[in-house]
Amino acid sequence: MEPNFQAPGQVKAAPRKIILDCDPGHDDAVALLLAHGNPDIELLAVTTVVGNQTLEKVTRNALAVGTIAGITGVPFAAGCPRPLVRSIETAPDIHGDSGMDGPALPESTIELDPRHAVDLIIDTVMAHEPGTVTLVPTAGLTNIAMAARKEPRIVERVKEVVLMGGGYHVGNWSAVAEFNIIIDPEAAHIVFNEKWPVVMVGLDLTHQALATPDVVEKIAAIGTKPAKFVTELMDFFAHTYKDAQGFDYPPVHDPCAVAYVIDPSIVSTRKVPVNIELTGTLTLGMTVADFRAPAPADCHTSVAVDLDHARFWDLVTDALVRIGEPGAGDVDNKGNASDVDLNEGAQLTAGGVK
Ligand code: RIB
Ligand code: CA
Repeated sequence: MEPNFQAPGQVKAAPRKIILDCDPGHDDAVALLLAHGNPDIELLAVTTVVGNQTLEKVTRNALAVGTIAGITGVPFAAGCPRPLVRSIETAPDIHGDSGMDGPALPESTIELDPRHAVDLIIDTVMAHEPGTVTLVPTAGLTNIAMAARKEPRIVERVKEVVLMGGGYHVGNWSAVAEFNIIIDPEAAHIVFNEKWPVVMVGLDLTHQALATPDVVEKIAAIGTKPAKFVTELMDFFAHTYKDAQGFDYPPVHDPCAVAYVIDPSIVSTRKVPVNIELTGTLTLGMTVADFRAPAPADCHTSVAVDLDHARFWDLVTDALVRIGEPGAGDVDNKGNASDVDLNEGAQLTAGGVK
C-alpha cells in the first residue's frame, strides 16, 4: 500500500499490517476493537488459540467481538486446541466459564475461515511483501510456534513479533511466570529463539494499563453498543482481578501490544536478551531477561518498560468512537461497509452513509 499523502511534503506512513493471534478473553476483545478501530492498523487476519478458555469458546468469543465491532472482510480462523506438549490450562477465575463472562454475546455474523489458523498465518505472511506484516500474539504462542516450524520462511519475512506475554520482574500464573508463556513454554521457547525481532509486552508494562474508573466513565460516555460492551467486560474483569489477584482496577494487558504497534512512543522498551525457562521447578515458564552489561549486538528481543497511561486509553476510546454503531448504516474508520443495506443512490463514505 502506497503511503498516504497528508499535505505537500508531509507523508503519512501507511497503516501497519498485523495478524492478531488471540484467546478472547476480556482484554483480547479490547485489543481486537483497538486494532479494528485505529486507522493506523490494517487488520489482515484474526486467529485464535486455546488459552483463557478452550479453543471452541475463545473462537466463539472472537467472532462475537468481530460481530459487535462490525468487522467485515477480515478472515477469522481457529488454531491449536492444546499446547505443544503440556495439557490445557484455562483461566476461568479471571475470564469466567465462557472466557468472556459479563456481557451478553450476539450470534456471530462472521463465517469462520476454513483454514487452520497456522495456515492462515503462513498464507498471509507469504502473500505480503517481506518486512510488512507484524504478528501480534496476545495468547499462548502455540500457533506462532507451529507456523514458524511449518513454514520457516515466515521468520525472515515477518516485520516483528509484538507479543503480550511474560514479565521480567513480574509473574501472575506463578511467582515468576505469566499465563501466555507458562501455558505453552515450549512454544514460547521457539518464538523467542527464532531470529525475528520480538518485542515482549509483559506484565511489567501491562500492569500499568489499569482500567481506572475515569477510564471506564470515558468509554461509557461514548454511548454506543461496542462501548457498552467494553464497560460490561471491564465490570466483570474488575471483580475477578480484585478477587483473584487483589487489584483495585483490572490491568488490560492485550491492547498494550496493539498500542505499541500503533505508536511505539506510548511504550518505552529496552533491548535485552530474553529466554524461556523450560525445566525449573519453581521457575517453569519464566521469561528470563538478562539486563547485565550492554545487550549483545545480535540481540533480537526487547522488553516493554513504561506505559503512557493517558495516551494508551486515548487510543482505545478513539478507536471505539471510530467504530461507531456498526449495523446502523455506519462504516468503520477504514471505509469498509458494515452489513448495511444501501438504498438506491446512497454512498458509503468514511463518515457514514450519505
Ligand atoms: O497474563 C495475561 C494474558 O493472559 C492476557 O493475554 C490474557 O488475555 C491471558 O491470555
Ligand atoms: Ca489474551
